[in-house]
Amino acid sequence: MQINSHTILYGVFGDPVRHSKSPLMLNRAFAEAGINAAYAAFHIQPGTLKDAINGIRALQFRGVNVTIPHKEEVMSYMDEIDEGARSIGAVNTVVNDGGRLIGYNTDGIGYIRSLKEETGLSLSGKKVLMLGAGGASRGVAYALAKDGASMIWFANRTVERAKDLASYTSAYTESAGIGFDGIEAIKEQVDIVVNNTPVGMHPNINEVPIDTSWFHEGLVVSDIIYTPMETRLLREAKQKGAVTHSGLGMFIYQGAYAFEYWTGKSAPVEAMREAVLNSMA
Ligand code: ATR
Repeated sequence: MQINSHTILYGVFGDPVRHSKSPLMLNRAFAEAGINAAYAAFHIQPGTLKDAINGIRALQFRGVNVTIPHKEEVMSYMDEIDEGARSIGAVNTVVNDGGRLIGYNTDGIGYIRSLKEETGLSLSGKKVLMLGAGGASRGVAYALAKDGASMIWFANRTVERAKDLASYTSAYTESAGIGFDGIEAIKEQVDIVVNNTPVGMHPNINEVPIDTSWFHEGLVVSDIIYTPMETRLLREAKQKGAVTHSGLGMFIYQGAYAFEYWTGKSAPVEAMREAVLNSMA
């Protein structure tokens, strides 16, 4: 669709931001849905986020995505914050409702939707081993717990952080924090393994966060990394007969939820996936 005097603007605020695939993906989504909108990447430097957010109101953007390093600070500039985003402590999607800014977090729920749609899995009663205890783990764990996971173990290099995160999710489901050496004792109870560490990400593609010799048929192994699409963790999981799930879906569905909050229409997910895959080919 031609940009004209009726075009509604959207964007992503980040630092760095030039690598972002969100403009490609969301512009494709708007085109597919026949919406007169345009989505650009804005390099928002430290100290300028507040002005940038006020700019959304002044220029009447309908919404923005917010990425690293602004997901926490942006919360101070919202008029309202959705319950999930408040609990996770990070906002990645802003909706401008006639000058009133509402903050959401679509990362965790995007992850869950992709996991369910791509593996056919139901999370109710499932026991999950999360690798890593940073911000990404927090968002994913919140959404897993809300969706019915009955137990979450956080295994982390720094055990203290795993314990802190477990005490946060214990408000939603049974949780425990352990070191990587604690996996041996619980591995037989695990239904799903989720890697939330950067171990195995490009360019360190030969790294694997844990020993995979115990992986087996019936286990689901998921990695939030999507460069490469198949990490060494997923490759080894597949060799053992486990069901695997890559991080690309999390990126696509976090964008799909943002699109749906902004437009009230269901997102053209397959076109969005195709736009991202084409850009990676
Ligand atoms: P994010 O917000 O993306 O989750 P983060 O808060 O820096 O980023 O968290 C990164 C996670 O990956 C942490 O759990 C980190 O472990 P520590 O808490 O011990 O630092 C984990 N991580 C990063 N590099 C790692 C490595 N080489 N081996 C094991 N874990 C690693």
